[in-house]
Amino acid sequence: MNKNIIAIDGPAGVGKGTLTRALAKHYDFAVLDTGSLYRAATFNLIEKGYDMENIDSAIALEETKKISDNHKILEYAKRDEIRLPLTTKYVYVVADNPPLREVLKVYQTEFGLNPPGGKRGAIIEGRDIGTVIFPGAPVKIFLTASSEVRARRRFYEYEAAGKPANYDEILAEMVKRDARDTHRAVGGLIAADDAVIIDTSEMSIERVIETACKLIDSRLKL
Ligand code: CDP
Repeated sequence: MNKNIIAIDGPAGVGKGTLTRALAKHYDFAVLDTGSLYRAATFNLIEKGYDMENIDSAIALEETKKISDNHKILEYAKRDEIRLPLTTKYVYVVADNPPLREVLKVYQTEFGLNPPGGKRGAIIEGRDIGTVIFPGAPVKIFLTASSEVRARRRFYEYEAAGKPANYDEILAEMVKRDARDTHRAVGGLIAADDAVIIDTSEMSIERVIETACKLIDSRLKL
């Protein structure tokens, strides 16, 4: 059973994805972006035509169990639509549902304990990895940055991808989602007591990677 687990948590646009990809390459570990599971479950409900403002939590749970049991959730997680503003807007329907979080937890736990492709370790990024999913992870990193810096990064990401973007709207959406993520009763966004907090506001990505690698090298016997 794999013990080389790196938990990376933090809010939207903080650079989790960039750091995770760099670390995966450096250590040849498997990567799980848990946000894509929450987004996949959300998009499945949207695609099935449910009224997301009024959907019953038991139905959301049932529908998610179905795509989790038949592993279709992994196909959804690869679809572009999971990044649409509409999916982002309603991801709280899934994230605020504790039994549904349990369904997604099973998949995350399995991935960490048995990383696919026979990899010797797993990097799992999200909001509650160091607190709920792998509270015993030997490496826990919690990334932070001001909301303005994070919104600017997301804005440039959209621009680079040729997608129309408005900085003020991105900032407003992020602040709203962060508040909801932070105050969630179960699986809320909070640093574990033993997490190393890295404020990336003023740091280059190279420095963030270097800091993370030092920590990982000191904690894991590779
Ligand atoms: O890509 P971005 O940073 O905007 O967000 P994400 O990581 O794709 O996550 C989307 C949403 O899923 C978050 O805002 C959370 O509401 C939820 N989520 C969660 O509750 N727990 C996780 N481990 C990951 C995501």
